[in-house]
Amino acid sequence: MTALSKLKSKMRSLFLVTTGAGVFFAGFNLLKGKDKFYDDFLMPLARKCPPETSHRLAVLGCKYKLFTGPKNEDPSILSTPFFNKQLKNPIGIAAGFDKQGEAIEGLDKIGFGLVEIGSVTPEAQPGNPTPRVFLLDSDQAIINRYGFNSEGHRVVFDRISDLKKGNNFKGILGINLGKNKTSPNALDDYVKGVNLFGPIADYLVINVSSPNTPGLRDLQGKQDLENLLTGVIEARNKLPVNNGVPVFVKIAPDLTKKDIEDISSVVLKGKCKVDGLIVSNTTIDKSKVSDAELAKEAGGLSGAPLKSKSTQLIAQMYAQTKGKIPIIGVGGVFSGSDAFEKIEAGASYVQLYTAFVYHGPPIVTKIKTELADILVEKGYKSVSEVVGKNYKKYLNNN
Ligand SMILES: Cc1cc2nc3c(=O)[nH]c(=O)nc-3n(C[C@H](O)[C@H](O)[C@H](O)COP(=O)(O)O)c2cc1C
Repeated sequence: MTALSKLKSKMRSLFLVTTGAGVFFAGFNLLKGKDKFYDDFLMPLARKCPPETSHRLAVLGCKYKLFTGPKNEDPSILSTPFFNKQLKNPIGIAAGFDKQGEAIEGLDKIGFGLVEIGSVTPEAQPGNPTPRVFLLDSDQAIINRYGFNSEGHRVVFDRISDLKKGNNFKGILGINLGKNKTSPNALDDYVKGVNLFGPIADYLVINVSSPNTPGLRDLQGKQDLENLLTGVIEARNKLPVNNGVPVFVKIAPDLTKKDIEDISSVVLKGKCKVDGLIVSNTTIDKSKVSDAELAKEAGGLSGAPLKSKSTQLIAQMYAQTKGKIPIIGVGGVFSGSDAFEKIEAGASYVQLYTAFVYHGPPIVTKIKTELADILVEKGYKSVSEVVGKNYKKYLNNN
């Protein structure tokens, strides 16, 4: 063997050993779910890829159950009622992470108490041209203008039906409904969603608050919302099975005082009364983001800069609706204390998305542990005891 071929063979062995060790290291830490591995290694590495590629890889990671969940059962203090069911904890994954319903079981395994998929549109549509997701690292924020990229009702429905046949998923599944960009009739689109998904969902969401579908947020206007919800609730009530499936409305954080009063009156009113609110979607207000270049990107802003705005709106909606319908609070939740604030402001359940992108699956256990500790420390016996307890503190929070 010549000196050169000896060197080549040594290099090859070295490469195999280091790659093997790297794969072993990564696999071991993925399985152990170590926070430091995610925060110092995996998540910064993921952020080197284009954001949409990382998103896709994360969905696939959940789909193929590469991430382990919590080692222990959730603290019993976190168990909380959800209509006629009981959640193991009140922390959910918000809509938009698993848009096509591919990773439901994996997300459940990571430890979410609620899994919301979508938004799903009736017909498949590609969404906006790429790039359409931007990470604002120093602000712990995301701007996205996906524009409801959806495989459409039928594909997502078949996927969930298969999952249900396997009978492996025992969690709470929310299905978030959107409308097609070119659809001339929004009500038709949402009613199609109610009819198809109502029988198999634990709750449905009428999303009228994405900033990335032209005209969608106008559906939050008083008369439009009343017409839309009247049709939606009528369809829900006529379902041959599961006709009590809870219907939530997801609203935007960029609302005037008058909008808030109007929405509150509509969602509590007779034939268009819904079962709950999701507060809130992303904001179009970029005044809090410092990364000037990316802040110029069109789309909705999520993450830390949205936190106080969404908590304030939770408190306002809680006050206006007098706590008569549950609120799912979402926007900038990164810690147990953020979740506690949302609950004190009036949320019965809490969702997150951006924190999951920045910190990976361990953030779920972290938030749950911290939230349980706060509840115990403050002498509470359950999550429901805290709901809206301190909403006045957050009414002028922004
Ligand atoms: C990339 C991305 C895509 C999203 N897509 C949807 C969606 O399809 N439907 C929806 O209702 N909300 C969507 N959202 C909004 C989230 O569900 C959530 O309301 C918002 O991000 C605030 O929570 P966060 O600060 O924890 O991310 C999306 C958010 C992000 C970041």
